[in-house]
Amino acid sequence: MYIIGSKIINLDKINSTNDFASTLLSKDKQPEGTIVLTEYQTNGKGQGSNIWYSSKGENILMSLILYPEFLDVSKQFYLSEMVTLSIIKMIEENLNLECKIKWPNDIFLNNKKIGGVLIKNSIKGQKIKNSVIGIGLNVNQKKFSKELPNAGSLAIESGKELDKQELFYALLKNLDEYYIRLKNKGFDKIKQEFVLKLLGYNSVLKCQSKDGERFNAKIETVKETGEIVLNVNNELRSFMHGQIRFII
Ligand code: BTN
Repeated sequence: MYIIGSKIINLDKINSTNDFASTLLSKDKQPEGTIVLTEYQTNGKGQGSNIWYSSKGENILMSLILYPEFLDVSKQFYLSEMVTLSIIKMIEENLNLECKIKWPNDIFLNNKKIGGVLIKNSIKGQKIKNSVIGIGLNVNQKKFSKELPNAGSLAIESGKELDKQELFYALLKNLDEYYIRLKNKGFDKIKQEFVLKLLGYNSVLKCQSKDGERFNAKIETVKETGEIVLNVNNELRSFMHGQIRFII
């Protein structure tokens, strides 16, 4: 039985699928795996205060509603891991292109950002009551604003126009598989896969901390909380998102 995509709400245009899904949840409990899918967002949200720009009808813009009540708050980063892994596996399987995850949850292909994930968890006690998982994946867009020199798409990188619908359903299948693995508490294996797919894993990275300190480091691992653990001159140091920048 498939959980992911048990209900799909198709919208022509909306401010943000994440906002729409959160509003839905605040009114009524939705079936687990409900997806809000749109062709265009007028106020797409990115990480922090960023705006997620996406041309009309060309890309995958979706939010997924889950109830990962089995997941302790301290393990919430596994949701990011399972979603980013599902995306890159879909791209590998369907297009034979190898993507990387730029920690914590950007999707990179040939050093271009082609996708991003924005997760909003609602917490009750020590458990995750519900989760709205926003996914933006650039599929057929070919032109990006000059302010986004690092942005790319699957069409640009593969050199051909792609079937967005086919990729969307392939992604649902992977999300379903990874979610079941998460439910079955397959944490270690998921984390291992995630670390191996990190951009810059196994190489020396130029880093800059929030307070301006610069150093070289290698990625050691990622904690359950999402902190990245770096090996800096044989000393292990952990950083939260926003505390460190990689100069790639
Ligand atoms: C990032 O900054 O990398 C995260 C981008 C997430 C964008 C997606 S598009 C669908 C969903 N709805 C939103 O408003 N944002 C997410």
